[in-house]
Amino acid sequence: MNILVIGSGGREHALTWKLTQSPKCDNIYVAPGNAGTSTMATNVSISPNDFESLGDFILANNVEMIVVGPEDPLVNGIRDYFEAQPSFAKLMIIGPGRLGAQLEGSKDFSKDFMVNHGIPTPASQTFSAENFAEGITYIRQQSLPVVLKADGLAAGKGVIIATSYDEAEQSLKEMLLEEKFAEASRKVLIEQHLNGIELSVFVLTDGLSYKILPEAKDYKRIGEQDTGLNTGGMGAVSPVPFAKGSFLEKVEEKVVKTTLAGLKKDEIPFKGFLFIGLMNVNGEPYVIEYNVRMGDPETQVVIPRIKSDLVTLFEAVANQTLEKVHLEIDDRFACTVVGVAGGYPGTYNKGDVIEGLENERNSTVFQAGTIKSGDQTVTNGGRIIAVTGMDYVLENAINKAYSGISSIKWKDMNFRTDIGRDVLSLVENTGL
Ligand code: AMP
Ligand code: GLY
Repeated sequence: MNILVIGSGGREHALTWKLTQSPKCDNIYVAPGNAGTSTMATNVSISPNDFESLGDFILANNVEMIVVGPEDPLVNGIRDYFEAQPSFAKLMIIGPGRLGAQLEGSKDFSKDFMVNHGIPTPASQTFSAENFAEGITYIRQQSLPVVLKADGLAAGKGVIIATSYDEAEQSLKEMLLEEKFAEASRKVLIEQHLNGIELSVFVLTDGLSYKILPEAKDYKRIGEQDTGLNTGGMGAVSPVPFAKGSFLEKVEEKVVKTTLAGLKKDEIPFKGFLFIGLMNVNGEPYVIEYNVRMGDPETQVVIPRIKSDLVTLFEAVANQTLEKVHLEIDDRFACTVVGVAGGYPGTYNKGDVIEGLENERNSTVFQAGTIKSGDQTVTNGGRIIAVTGMDYVLENAINKAYSGISSIKWKDMNFRTDIGRDVLSLVENTGL
């Protein structure tokens, strides 16, 4: 089968890496890909949102399956675009249509969906410029901190946890009246703040049945011990020890099943990944967000833990036969550490030569913001690489990831040194 992966991050490198291991995979293409994907697939210089050029490529190269990595093309309706044309009738598409993608594309839509279907989620109300004054009154009625969320896609920057009323009011003003995130902040949710432990649960669904994939914890802040600015993600670990037994059962019953039943009831078809951001509050799960794709860098720990053939799983998603497929998970821990450009998530340099990628190591390197320049690989983004270590012992998995990333260098490279350490303490303290 010829497969086209859409996107250019570490997530897409990890998906491509896994897809190429399938005996069913003939030619694999990545649009636009990165230097890492070019070592195992053919990069195609087409933007993920240029559906017309993607369509021409798909027809010219007999592509039978497309795997959509990022949220933008999903929210922009890539599935709807191809489904509307008879020449793509047989194309298998991994990722939901425009309507399903609204679960990520509009926080107001997803909050309504959760409330309507009784899915546990923090209380919130949505405001726009027209009722700005009511928003201010509502803020004053909340206890601190209070959470503000831009309704639309804001590249991971649309959530503000305000620790004072002044900060919350200022943020509401910037978003609603000063168009801080343009169209994305035309509506803003003011949400109750929850105290708990976060984790991400990933579900693969064909719209009829589902498989729960390995869960993960990610590390969003740039600084050690979760300090400093938010990033796309500085590392991840899987499995997460507290996501066991009764808590995971509650997640399946109260969140996964109710979400999929809600999609059916609302007649929203969904074939693809559902990434559920959860807060564990005293053993009870609350949904703080849905994403309609895999996470980055969570993919770099989740995908290596899937033993089953990924092409077979994806075919079953497309054909709605997922119920018949067995999902086999690797028991080992996986830890990934992301190396970023100095200055990220602020301004950073591009074009710095990356050294050491070819070194032998007992970890796997997934590339993100990288590009080939002649024979060399150079930096081309904020997040550059994610190095994944795996082992039956969590500490060894962490050490393998760090030993791997230490053998790679570029000017002003930065990474967090505490990825997985909090989970390790939990494992040591609880014996899980
Ligand atoms: P999101 O962009 O929705 O993933 O939100 C970014 C981060 O904000 C999450 O990973 C949480 O750490 C935090 N967050 C979002 N909603 C809440 C909430 N209701 N209570 C506490 N923290 C939250
Ligand atoms: N790592 C968070 C995300 O992919 O949304």
